[in-house]
Amino acid sequence: MRHDTKQPIRTELIYISVVFFEVEILDAKTKDKLCFLDKVRPTSTKLCAACYPQWYPARQSIRLDPKGKSLKDEDVLQHLPVGTTATFYFRDLGAQISWVTVFLTEYAGPLLIYLMFYFRVPFIYPPKYDFTTSKHWVVHLACMCHSFHYVKRLLETLFVHRFSHGTMPLRNIFKNCTYYWGFAAWMAYYINHPLYTPPTYGEQQVKMALIIFLFCQIGNFSIHIALRNLRPPGSKTRKIPYPTKNPFTWIFLLVSCPNYTYELGSWLGFTLMTQCLPVAFFTLVGFIQMTVWAKAKHRSYLKEFRDYPPLRSPILPFVL
Ligand SMILES: NC(=O)c1ccc[n+]([C@@H]2O[C@H](COP(=O)([O-])OP(=O)(O)OC[C@H]3O[C@@H](n4cnc5c(N)ncnc54)[C@H](OP(=O)(O)O)[C@@H]3O)[C@@H](O)[C@H]2O)c1
Ligand SMILES: *[C@@H]1O[C@H](CO)[C@@H](O)[C@H](O)[C@H]1NC(C)=O
Ligand SMILES: *[C@@H]1O[C@H](CO)[C@@H](O)[C@H](O)[C@H]1NC(C)=O
Repeated sequence: MRHDTKQPIRTELIYISVVFFEVEILDAKTKDKLCFLDKVRPTSTKLCAACYPQWYPARQSIRLDPKGKSLKDEDVLQHLPVGTTATFYFRDLGAQISWVTVFLTEYAGPLLIYLMFYFRVPFIYPPKYDFTTSKHWVVHLACMCHSFHYVKRLLETLFVHRFSHGTMPLRNIFKNCTYYWGFAAWMAYYINHPLYTPPTYGEQQVKMALIIFLFCQIGNFSIHIALRNLRPPGSKTRKIPYPTKNPFTWIFLLVSCPNYTYELGSWLGFTLMTQCLPVAFFTLVGFIQMTVWAKAKHRSYLKEFRDYPPLRSPILPFVL
């Protein structure tokens, strides 16, 4: 009789001990033990928030391997390659800021800075030039192109891109802004300078440059739309981008990151239009940076998709 009444309780105890997980969290750098959680439900997600409720989850990184990839918010404990006693490594990613804020500050800066030089506000050029305008029409065209480029980026950030990561480390914004804002000021100073000399081959060169510039802006925009359409609203899925009906996207047959290819083209057009050394330098530096990103993206596409089109290069067809 007594034996019978105890039976159900014992099975329940066994059930509990099998199903719950024990989670140990170590510091990824020092390997110090940070915390130990017992009775973690196997269906737990957002494992980050468990240990440091005082830090928002986006700031925390939890990994299976100290140097490995961070777990995603939606990873479920029981589907991870761990036993019922799991060890994770924690890293503080530092203060975070949303991608949209980052992009808006990065891009609004160059737009406003360039315009200050264009309108020749005081203390930039000698006082007699304050608020005067250039006699070369290419200077006005360049200002329109430059502004168009950054307005396009701002609008795309607000209305087109679907970001998979909500935030990035705050310190990156200082680095990125110095880069974009600094270059914008340097280029604008020379292009809007009262002693600026227009391109050698005159109107023909400028027209050619404008066509290249606009062509690439449209191409770049087409790619961003294509990437957006790959990702259903609110999701984080990643698919292989393929050419669509829009001919500007057909370049996907040959490169993995055509948005960068078009961006390079755009700045080459701008260089040709203004025939200005700082612009050429900005184009070169941007190209090197984008090549690094494109190669990384290309590698991750190859790793993620076994049927990835073999003909594609990262940024320049058949070359790079
Ligand atoms: N440190 C780096 O290695 C690195 C690399 C690239 C960019 N950046 C930063 O990003 C800035 C410019 O990069 P970016 O203009 O190229 O913007 P981005 O942040 O790389 O991309 C914009 C959006 O398009 C989405 N997207 C890209 N490929 C996709 C696909 N195959 N399917 C669905 N959606 C996709 C991206 O999602 P995903 O987030 O999923 O890609 C992202 O949400 C720079 O200022 C730089 O700071 C840094
Ligand atoms: C540019 O293209 C690459 C590769 O498809 C992608 O990773 C990146 O997010 C794109 N940038 C934008 C702003 O869409
Ligand atoms: C092209 O795409 C890149 C990355 O996707 C973006 O950062 C850049 O502003 C775009 N360039 C042009 C010319 O629109």
